[in-house]
Order: sequence, then C-alpha cells, then structure tokens
Amino acid sequence: MSDRTDLLDAGERLDAAGLRALQEERLRAQLRHAYDNVPFYRERFDKAGVRPDDCRGLADLARFPFTTKDDLREHYPDGMFAVPRDRIRRIHASSGTTGRPTIVGYTDGDLSMWADMVARSLRAAGARPGDTVHVAYGYGLFTGGLGAHYGAERLGCTVVPASGGMTSRQVQLIQDLRPGVIMVTPSYMLTLLDEFERQGADPRGTSLRVGVFGAEPWTEGMRQEIEERCGIDAVDIYGLSEVIGPGVAQECVETKDGLHVHEDHFYPEIVDPVTGEVLPDGERGELVFTSLTKEAMPVIRYRTRDLTRLLPGTARTFRRMEKVTGRSDDMVILRGVNLFPTQIEEIVLRTPGVAPHFQLRLTREGRLDALTVRAEARPDASAEVRAAAARSMATAVKDGTGLSAAVEILDPESLERSVGKIRRIVDERPRQCSTRPAGLSAPS
Ligand code: DLL
Repeated sequence: MSDRTDLLDAGERLDAAGLRALQEERLRAQLRHAYDNVPFYRERFDKAGVRPDDCRGLADLARFPFTTKDDLREHYPDGMFAVPRDRIRRIHASSGTTGRPTIVGYTDGDLSMWADMVARSLRAAGARPGDTVHVAYGYGLFTGGLGAHYGAERLGCTVVPASGGMTSRQVQLIQDLRPGVIMVTPSYMLTLLDEFERQGADPRGTSLRVGVFGAEPWTEGMRQEIEERCGIDAVDIYGLSEVIGPGVAQECVETKDGLHVHEDHFYPEIVDPVTGEVLPDGERGELVFTSLTKEAMPVIRYRTRDLTRLLPGTARTFRRMEKVTGRSDDMVILRGVNLFPTQIEEIVLRTPGVAPHFQLRLTREGRLDALTVRAEARPDASAEVRAAAARSMATAVKDGTGLSAAVEILDPESLERSVGKIRRIVDERPRQCSTRPAGLSAPS
C-alpha cells in the first residue's frame, strides 16, 4: 500500500475484507437493478434460471450469463438503458469500426462516479490538484477526451482540451501553457514527439512530468521510448466505453507494474475465451467486467475481448491487471499462427536504426497469406544499418512467432501518423477470404 494514505480516497483505503463486503453488497444491488429495469437481462437471467438473490457471494456471479458486444448492438440505440430517457445526461459511443456503433448512456450519478475514477487514476499517475493537464484524447462520441477532461477537473487541475489533431498547434500549446501532465494515446504521443523535433524543440525540455497513455495496446518498449525521448514517467490507463470509458484501471507511477482495477466499481473476472470458464487469478484469458454501481447502463459479465491476467495488488489493495497486449479482435491468424501487433512492436522497438512507426500488411500470394512488416528508418540510419535492421527483424519475427515475414524498412515519414487510436493492420487480402473486419481472419 502507498505510504501516502492521505492521498487515497475512501475506496482505495478499504482493506481486502472491507472491499469484498462492499463488492458483494453492490453486486447484489446491481444485478437486481439490471433484472428489474432491463428486459434483456430479465430474459437472459430467466433463461439461465438465475435470480439476483441467487448471488450470495462473488463466486456466484459465475452462474450468471455473459453479455457481448453483439447483445449491445442488437439493442441499439437505448435498449440496454435501465433508467428513463430523461435521466440520461450524456451519450457516448464505442469506437467500433464495423456495423452499428454501441451506444452508452450516463446519468448524473454515472458521470460523477466516472469523474471520480479518472481523478483517482490521475492521482495514481502522479498528477496533483493545481497541475495543468493537456488532454489530447479525441473529444466527441469517443469517451477519451471528455472522460479525461471531467476527471482532471474533478481532481482540481487546469484542463487544456486540445483533443486530437492540429499537431503543430498542440506542440505550441504545450510549450506556452506548460502542462505537467499529458493524456493521449501512445501512438499520438509519438506523433507529437516527432513534431517537437521537426520544430527544432527538445521534448525533454518541456514542463511535462507524466503521460497517461491508453485506449490502445502498447508495450514496455514503447514506454521506454517515450520516457527517454520526453523525460517523463509514462503510465497506463485502461477502460472501455461499455463499462464507463477511461478510468476502469490505472497503473501507479511509483510501481509501474500493471494496472490496479477500480474493483469497488468494476468487478473483473478472467475467463477462458473459448469455454467461458472462470480462470483463477494469475492465468491469462479474456477480461470480463460487471459494473457494481452504474445507473443508466449496468453491464453484467461483459466480454471485453481484451486478453490479460489478474495479479495481486501492490501499491493499492485492488488487484492488478497485466498490461493488455492485445484483444482477440486484433489477433491475426496467419497460416495457423496467432499474431498480435504488439509482438511486432516489441521487435521494432529493440531494433537499432528503426523508428517506432510500423504497419503490418497482409496480402495473399496464390493460396497463402503473406505478412509484410513495414517500419520506418530513424532519420540518421545509413543504408547498411537499414539492411541489417531488415535482416534482424525478419529473424526476430521468425524466432518469436514462427512466421516468415518480409520486412521493408521505409524512409522516415513514409507511414501515416496516428491522431488517436492507431490502425496497425492493413489487410489487402481479397474480400471473400475474410468475412470479418480488417485484422481478423479465419485460420487458413
Ligand atoms: O478506448 C477508453 C479509453 C480512453 C481508455 C482513453 C483509455 C484512455 P473504447 O473506444 O470503447 O474506449 O475502446 C476500448 O480499447 O477494450 C481495449 O481493447 C482498448 N484499450 C483501452 N485502453 C487500453 C490500454 C476507450 N491501456 C478498447 N491498453 C478496450 C490496451 C486498451 N488496450
């Protein structure tokens, strides 16, 4: 536990027994709220033969049915709401790239709890009242911008609502307004760092001390790259719209050892992605969340598709989740081998002469799928360094994943830059071979 208990809120100060009692009480009330007010949950629970009162302890949650993104889509736009429309104060939507978006709603109470969770996250990241926070997550239906915004205000910070894009102006604002904290996707942070350098400014010379990065997977290699180039502490924030938005889990700056799940409001389980069986802490699987205090849109056993594992708490009593290295949707299955873009990110970041900008291109050659890793050279890399990088990356991909990939080292500034969540996979295989969204393919 942190020795600065004066900095912790009431939820963070609970001991394990107190936390469990609170979770059990809140879980029962949340199941009851969902059952009484959302026809979808009533039907599902009835069909599974379970009632809210059957949940006597946390372990009983496993008897309740899962909720999936498809369930939310089928009840578009507001069929999952548990309160009348006049109590809904805000709408957001998830960042799905295909089909109907998923709409989420918030009451006043939900917005307040969310702001508390982001304020808690920011404090764990090292932000303090009085800090200026530059928010470069996109504002709008995406939960990143407004979620970060109200949390930073709740903590007592000055917010610069920069949103995504207009990169050169962002660099100017950072230099002029001197924020201590930046909240942005890690890929857009790289775009900002490049822009600093393009303008001839040293990013290590800024006022920034902490970056709170999330909304997409990023690796320890990326942490090191950002920390070194910018001279800040880089910590991870996790969340998803269906559960609330950013602030579901947060890494503490003093330990940087995974993200403490805000378990007093969001109860996590890890399940086997195929069988749905609940796995013990420490085992890797799919993360599932049950909200404990939501009013507008309670979610019961929501399948996130994010892959991770739960670990005991360190800087907080709450359990930690290991950094999410990928979601089942982003997994490419190529010639029977499963591949996550983060595996390639690790290789890119440890290869001398290569910049942290890369893309995975999937093509079809005859009847076989082919992978090309395209990465940019660092501006100072010579032709020999580039050639050596291509060779060593191809070997590392083969050794690390078993896949033979072509590696192309491109000139600096060749690849499109991120202004938000980056898309790593460019799937150029013929349509009929893949009926699922880009990045997904049936095993070939
Ligand atoms: O990305 C919420 C958010 C905004 C989180 C800002 C953190 C910072 P969605 O657009 O609904 O919500 O996307 C949620 O993004 O299921 C993960 O797959 C991925 N994701 C979010 N945070 C992380 C993270 C926001 N720290 C989906 N590491 C989630 C890895 C993350 N993946």
